[in-house]
Amino acid sequence: METPDLGFTHRFVPAPGGSAAPTLLLLHGTGGDEGDLLGLGRVLDPSAALLSPRGKVLENGMPRFFRRLAEGVFDEDDLVRRTAELAAFVARAADTYSFDRGRVIAVGYSNGANIAACMLLLHPGALAGAVLFHAMTPLVLETTPDLSGTPVFLGAGRSDPLIPPRGTEDLAARLRAAGAEVRLSWQPGGHALTQTEVEAARVWFRTQEALPS
Ligand code: MLT
Repeated sequence: METPDLGFTHRFVPAPGGSAAPTLLLLHGTGGDEGDLLGLGRVLDPSAALLSPRGKVLENGMPRFFRRLAEGVFDEDDLVRRTAELAAFVARAADTYSFDRGRVIAVGYSNGANIAACMLLLHPGALAGAVLFHAMTPLVLETTPDLSGTPVFLGAGRSDPLIPPRGTEDLAARLRAAGAEVRLSWQPGGHALTQTEVEAARVWFRTQEALPS
């Protein structure tokens, strides 16, 4: 079947167990694409549907989900606009592929985790939960959204040169202040996604009763 034009180049893999299963919104890192996290999604939830868009911003030819002015310095106007665009894409995909938009869980790495964090903060209710690897506070809001009970796993590296540990700690604090149930899992390594943190996320995922299953 030809992939419908929903505004993002993307892959959709229907839930093997039927449409009652949750949908994982897979968001790759800088230089990645819509194929990158399909395997990770399957590891986290073998029964979920997978929706995986490709970031539309090109930085030296590398796809990203929003513009940055320098490493760790984000173009906030672009970030806000792209986050709304991504939320609208998910809503259109839910109509097109007939999945429940109230049962969408983001799984993001690096730049993809940062836009997912922004989606949690700016569009509370758009995500039922999130697994964010190597994320930081993407932008500072004057208001605190209501994320009561939303389960969020944050995987981080103590020596990550791109995501300073205090950026992840700040994100965890802001999500907790909004009422989210945050699990912050530290690994000794850097920016790469390791098997150990994927395993920690998998175990966490299985024990979250608040996540749709
Ligand atoms: C970002 O730009 O979102 C972060 O710096 C991580 C990355 O390098 O993609």
